[in-house]
Amino acid sequence: MSRNLFPFASRFSTGSSSCSMSIVVLSVVGCLLMLHLYSLVSQPYIQNKEIHAGMSSHPLLLKLEAVEEENIKMPRQRRHSPRSAKRKPRHTTTLIDEFLDESSPIRHIFFPDMKTAIDPNKDAGNDSLYYYPGKIWLDTEGNPIQAHGGGVLFDERSRTYYWYGEYKDGPTYHAHKRGAARVDIMGVGCYSSKDLWTWKNEGIVLAAEGKNETHDLHKLNVLERPKVIYNDKTGEYVMWMHIDNANYTKASVGVAVSDSPTGPFYYLYSKRPHGFDSRDMTIFKDDDGVAYIIYSSEDNSDLHIGPLTEDYLDVTSVMKRILVGKHREAPALFKHGGIYYMITSGCTGWAPNKALAHAAKSILGPWNTLGNPCIGGNEVVRFTTFFSQSTYVLPFPRLPGLFIFMADRWNPANLRDSRYVWLPLTVGGTANQRPLEYNFGSPLWSRVAIYWHKRWMLPDIWRKKK
Ligand code: GAL
Repeated sequence: MSRNLFPFASRFSTGSSSCSMSIVVLSVVGCLLMLHLYSLVSQPYIQNKEIHAGMSSHPLLLKLEAVEEENIKMPRQRRHSPRSAKRKPRHTTTLIDEFLDESSPIRHIFFPDMKTAIDPNKDAGNDSLYYYPGKIWLDTEGNPIQAHGGGVLFDERSRTYYWYGEYKDGPTYHAHKRGAARVDIMGVGCYSSKDLWTWKNEGIVLAAEGKNETHDLHKLNVLERPKVIYNDKTGEYVMWMHIDNANYTKASVGVAVSDSPTGPFYYLYSKRPHGFDSRDMTIFKDDDGVAYIIYSSEDNSDLHIGPLTEDYLDVTSVMKRILVGKHREAPALFKHGGIYYMITSGCTGWAPNKALAHAAKSILGPWNTLGNPCIGGNEVVRFTTFFSQSTYVLPFPRLPGLFIFMADRWNPANLRDSRYVWLPLTVGGTANQRPLEYNFGSPLWSRVAIYWHKRWMLPDIWRKKK
């Protein structure tokens, strides 16, 4: 008997009509599946095109979405002694090593000196209103702005922006040999502005406690990441912040309140929200007036999110765990087109790391991770979030899709000299750019992108539309 080399072919050629029927059915199902897959994959591009078409009406916005490369030249390998000069260096220094090294010959690239400071008092001419991420930024009295780990509140009543943050204008030291670099608590700094560029110092609106050592705000403790929202029902400005002791084991949130955006704020109390440890945190006020707290918990392995009470002075019993086991911190939450977005960092103390963007249909989750939103610079710049860490994302309700990404470029050798990295963040993106790291889950999300620029300004229309 000869062997049948083509069993399928012979079966088909001699086959019955039921067999050819199943082929037809299978082919139709296959085609339908392919079509469905194609529509899933192409949907985000269509979405992007629509959103972008709405936004791209102003050429300046396109400018903000331009990809700007950064060519940072590494210094020649440094050799410490004539002997070691003969030896091959054990490892090549990376750009991140240079950033973390106070004596790096390219330190000025990451921490430009006072001569290059942004100074609203100087007739800046063509430079007026331009942001220079990483440069020293002076207030209207000529002093470097002290509002680290901060956030911005737009006060509808005075039509003024208020920037609150950690006032760190003191010496940096280590409380313990292995402890993180720190500055004693001085309080929460507040600056006001109409144009988001010229900032007037409104003083310390929540001050440290000098004498009482048991007080949360005693200078030897920790006060980080203060954020303020306005409660329309009570007419009060409510501040939430991370409260800790010097070794970060208290892991609590603190609440303070004022009837004026410029304080003074009265400190109410601290607690472990929902009974859990809480370190990096932020608050978010939704369009319906419900406010939420988001905090890194369970030793920074998860984020927790839950609504505040109506007066914003406490948490409720509702809490959801999100990004479980992902070890994210420095959360900055914002909303666009009914979808919630969040930028987070990894947990590496003062050292920079890779940001991630996340999105959710419901604020309590589930949250999907979209990937690294950073665009431009170079690979290291993108991998280190432009050598900075997220703290807040500021919306422009009348320019939907455009936000300011606010981040801190920490200087652990001298924390008071930490810099601000403000960059344009857009949701939607351009139709011809593929999403960075694409998530094939459903629903499909718009692209969140933060664009590196050495120098940039908000589009003029923003000022006219205010
Ligand atoms: C970071 C955190 C900062 C500060 C720092 C201390 O992870 O985001 O807010 O707490 O650690 O090392």
